[in-house]
Amino acid sequence: MDQGNEEMDVKTRLKEMSAELDGPIKSYIDDERPSNLIEACRQYPYAGGKRMRPSMVVAACRAVGGDASKAVPLAVAIEYIHNFTLVHDDLMDGDEKRRGMTTSHILYGMPTAILAGDALFAKAFDIISDLDIPSDAMRKVLKTVSVAVWDLARGQQMDVNNENSGTVSMEDYIETIRLKTSVLFAAGAAGGAIIGGADDSTVKAVHEYAMNLGVAFQMYDDILGIYGDPEKTGKSAGNDIRKGKNTVMVCHARDTIKDENVLNEFMSVFGKLDATDSEIEKARRILKESGSYDYAIEMAEKYTKDAISRLDCLKDSDDKEFMKALAEYSMSRDV
Ligand code: IPE
Ligand code: IPE
Ligand code: MG
Ligand code: MG
Repeated sequence: MDQGNEEMDVKTRLKEMSAELDGPIKSYIDDERPSNLIEACRQYPYAGGKRMRPSMVVAACRAVGGDASKAVPLAVAIEYIHNFTLVHDDLMDGDEKRRGMTTSHILYGMPTAILAGDALFAKAFDIISDLDIPSDAMRKVLKTVSVAVWDLARGQQMDVNNENSGTVSMEDYIETIRLKTSVLFAAGAAGGAIIGGADDSTVKAVHEYAMNLGVAFQMYDDILGIYGDPEKTGKSAGNDIRKGKNTVMVCHARDTIKDENVLNEFMSVFGKLDATDSEIEKARRILKESGSYDYAIEMAEKYTKDAISRLDCLKDSDDKEFMKALAEYSMSRDV
């Protein structure tokens, strides 16, 4: 993928949009008691992150000709839901680092992390209920976002169920990541388009754009989880192998590696919670040599192209270009 000017532009644009969204994102959580819960609610959203989902909400609204200011509260709500899922995800995955910080359950304890996630989830729907939009648009947005969170829970459960399994197929993997990751991008993009006044077929196209983008995004996230630089990603690398997470590369490796010794060598590290750094390095090397890394990149490229093609129905605009660039960035980032 082209990592030249296009990536520079999308990063600059994301930074500009983040700067605009930071104020709203920090404006909804009041000083209330108990302070440890409020602090935990603020920890992840205030720390930033790439802000891809809220930027997409605003861009989709504007790309269909809407007034972006009407979509900003939904952008905040989607980012709160994203952060709620991250707090719970870190607890479920037993991870200790997120965005370079100590994770919520380690810092505040498990009960507070669970409650902070729940509270952010509730706040998101509180914000949505205040959207200044016609009632039929409100109904559609509520439905889209609620269904997405339901599906996301199904996807997260599948991800957990698939841990350490030796029989997860590529189809199972794609279904899992569509549910755990794509649906929230898609609800945000579709919600932005609904608020912008788009007709049903345009909303559907924008939804499909984000579903495909989400698949490429998660495939690339799984690559970063194994090959990324923890200094940049802010998350530790190698834990997906230790936890026995069935990523696109693992599914491919299991289908492709014919030499039983090599496969056994990989499987002896896969799911080994106390695997050493050199064992993880061995697993990394096997995934490269089996072509599983290249395969994952090829697959992510396919989904990125498909995402971009769904935007053909939109009139040309800066926001449409930004949405295309976001799809490219999903699989060319280092963060
Ligand atoms: C992380 O999402 C969770 C996944 C779905 C893989 P992001 O990589 O968008 O996280 P932030 O918001 O930029 O930290
Ligand atoms: C995150 O999935 C997906 C959701 C939070 C719904 P992962 O567990 O694969 O992502 P990271 O690597 O922790 O961000
Ligand atoms: Mg995780
Ligand atoms: Mg997870």
